[in-house]
Amino acid sequence: MNIKLPGLIDPHVHLRDPGATHKEDWHSGTCAALAGGFTVVMDMPNNTPPITDAQTLGAKQRAASEQAVCDYGIHFGAGADNAAIAASLASQCSGLKLYLDQTFGPLRLDSLQSLVSHFSTFPKDVPILCHAEGRTIAAALFVAQLYDHPVHICHVSRKDEIELIRAAKEKGVRVTCEVTPHHLYLTLDEREKIGAGKCEVRPMIATRADVEALRANLDIIDCFATDHAPHTLFEKESASPPPGYPGLETALALYLELVREGMITLDDVIARCHENPRKIFNVPVQDETWVEVDVDAEWIARGANMFTRAKWTPFEGRTLRGRVTRVMLRGETVFENNCVLAKPGSGKNIRPTL
Ligand code: DOR
Ligand code: ZN
Ligand code: ZN
Repeated sequence: MNIKLPGLIDPHVHLRDPGATHKEDWHSGTCAALAGGFTVVMDMPNNTPPITDAQTLGAKQRAASEQAVCDYGIHFGAGADNAAIAASLASQCSGLKLYLDQTFGPLRLDSLQSLVSHFSTFPKDVPILCHAEGRTIAAALFVAQLYDHPVHICHVSRKDEIELIRAAKEKGVRVTCEVTPHHLYLTLDEREKIGAGKCEVRPMIATRADVEALRANLDIIDCFATDHAPHTLFEKESASPPPGYPGLETALALYLELVREGMITLDDVIARCHENPRKIFNVPVQDETWVEVDVDAEWIARGANMFTRAKWTPFEGRTLRGRVTRVMLRGETVFENNCVLAKPGSGKNIRPTL
């Protein structure tokens, strides 16, 4: 059966360009997005160098405008003392990303002062996103509440975290959150099958009880986000494997599996992959844009066949159901028969600069 979905929006990807284009670039990453049914992706700032000033933002805007085949937003990076600069560039960005815990790349906010300075300075109509794990989620929620700034908690992965977010929502805190497909499906029990190096990801995949808790709280999860974080197989199998999984090309089939399992409805998927991210991140309407999906098509996940330059997947060998057959973007067929038809540079920034 073929169904038509609105263009999916992924608020959390790492396309590595500029700085690490051997892992991914704007072209390969947005080709992977179209193949996965995404017509908007929002890119994270932990590049080398990180996106923390006008110059690095400009370099990313240029790279994207030349190469992207789907639409995109660019999240700005919060540094120890760039709150005023971040605020001045907010209108060009889809969000401000705060790293409150250690992960890939140099961006990490350690001081209370820098946390407060960003929440108190950044314009309230642009969301602040936090990579926060465990106790730092509590810190982010409190400071967000204090300064009355909306906050979006990225890749929630633990039972205690999702329960805290539920409690905060019940108290009226302006918090939204996302979960990834890998945290909804994978547990540490899969470590050997995936391989220890490939398995590394932040937040780390967790226990069966954590997966169950995320699934039990799907009603308060605002968005699904892949956290598409490509690293090469060589890097993942090295002595110091960087954390992160590619995810754009397997995500939709995994979301549809939740529907087949009876956990959520197709409308719930549309809310989490289109309506909610559109509202939270103020994504402009894409006219004449939709995705056609053969929901019965079975296929086997094979990293080697994917558009991502990572060429591997933590779901390697898994039988998936649901395949994107066509993507229309602004009235043009941009993906069909597993081919990208859009020209590099045809993707648009959702925060255009004049
Ligand atoms: O596993 C991760 N990889 N988590 C992050 O927060 C960053 C990401 C990356 O950039 O590789
Ligand atoms: Zn993160
Ligand atoms: Zn991330």
